[in-house]
Amino acid sequence: MYLDAEDENVLAGEFGETRQKMMEILVALGRVYDAEKLVPIASAQVSGASYKTIGKWGLHWLSTMNARVAVPAVLNPIGMPRDEWRELDGITPEFAHQQEEVLAAYRRLGIKLECTCTPYYLQRTEYGEHLAWSESSAVCYANSVIGARTNREGGPSALAAAIVGKTPFYGLHIVENRRPGVVVEVEAGDAPHADHYGAIGYLAGREVGNRIPIFTGIRPGRDQLKALGAAMAASGAVALFHVDKITPETRVFHFETESLERITVGQQDIEDLFAALDVDAVAIGCPHCSPDELREVANLLRDKQTTKPLLVFVARAVARENPDLVGAIERSGAKVVPDTCMVVSPAMDRYRAIMVDSGKAFAYVPGMCGALARIGTRKECIDVATS
Ligand code: F3S
Repeated sequence: MYLDAEDENVLAGEFGETRQKMMEILVALGRVYDAEKLVPIASAQVSGASYKTIGKWGLHWLSTMNARVAVPAVLNPIGMPRDEWRELDGITPEFAHQQEEVLAAYRRLGIKLECTCTPYYLQRTEYGEHLAWSESSAVCYANSVIGARTNREGGPSALAAAIVGKTPFYGLHIVENRRPGVVVEVEAGDAPHADHYGAIGYLAGREVGNRIPIFTGIRPGRDQLKALGAAMAASGAVALFHVDKITPETRVFHFETESLERITVGQQDIEDLFAALDVDAVAIGCPHCSPDELREVANLLRDKQTTKPLLVFVARAVARENPDLVGAIERSGAKVVPDTCMVVSPAMDRYRAIMVDSGKAFAYVPGMCGALARIGTRKECIDVATS
């Protein structure tokens, strides 16, 4: 892999041991994937932020580092609200202490303590920009909805890219590799959940695996694209998808699809996911809610009171910019929770069954929280939480 003079100096340790080690990670990755060079990145999003997922060895590794990031970088959701962790039942002081140590380590590296899987609501991300993002739904959104270019980074490689300011040029950074490999057709119909994009993504992801799908015959909006990609990234390993005439690259490139395998997501398959189940909590905001989604939740909760815990997860900046919506939601007894989420917070581990509106959470809650998962529309979730 070609390295310029500065890269070589970093690799030789002239800019300190941490930068040297980070460059070694990038070079090793580049060699594995046969990258021809490193490419500068506009931003990084670093996973491995919740103490629930990285544990004491992850914290130890972070604590040994001594460098500053070279590009704007934010964190994935952590295990608790950053400042108000005492307000979330289920967070112990011991966990909070360890989580604060993790945050302190990232702060020393110059990473902004914005902890979200929706960094695109915080910082402008442009079509064609190279990124090193690691949370799978954020990767899918950046590639597919924005048309930026990022591989699905692991926590260490995203951190290495943030500190060096570059990433190996391979995979989805190369335009040629962004062509679709399979066509997904969604059966039209008027079944109750026909346009639940989390469910469609959950089913499509299982068939698609790590290929790049192109959908035909659907017209999702931005939040629906977010739900679709997040679910496919969880039930499959999708890092980029296209929707004909909707996502930006289908309007820039001509994709030949005649010879591709075709998969159908059927109406009955979608309906079969929506089995009833008694739940003891309801969680919304996977990925973190957009302002429009917060507004929808606030409207659905108008004049209602919760009878079960209802948690709404969001980026702190989005909550801060929408205090009226947060207030309207919380007047019902629901809780708007920044910085963390239903999967990476230990607060959710005490529930037996959790209802979600997200195909991604539906896929992850059983394994990550040890709870049964039920999927519903946002309205069904609110109805269950207030019944
Ligand atoms: Fe985000 Fe957590 Fe879902 S990181 S995509 S809210 S599992």
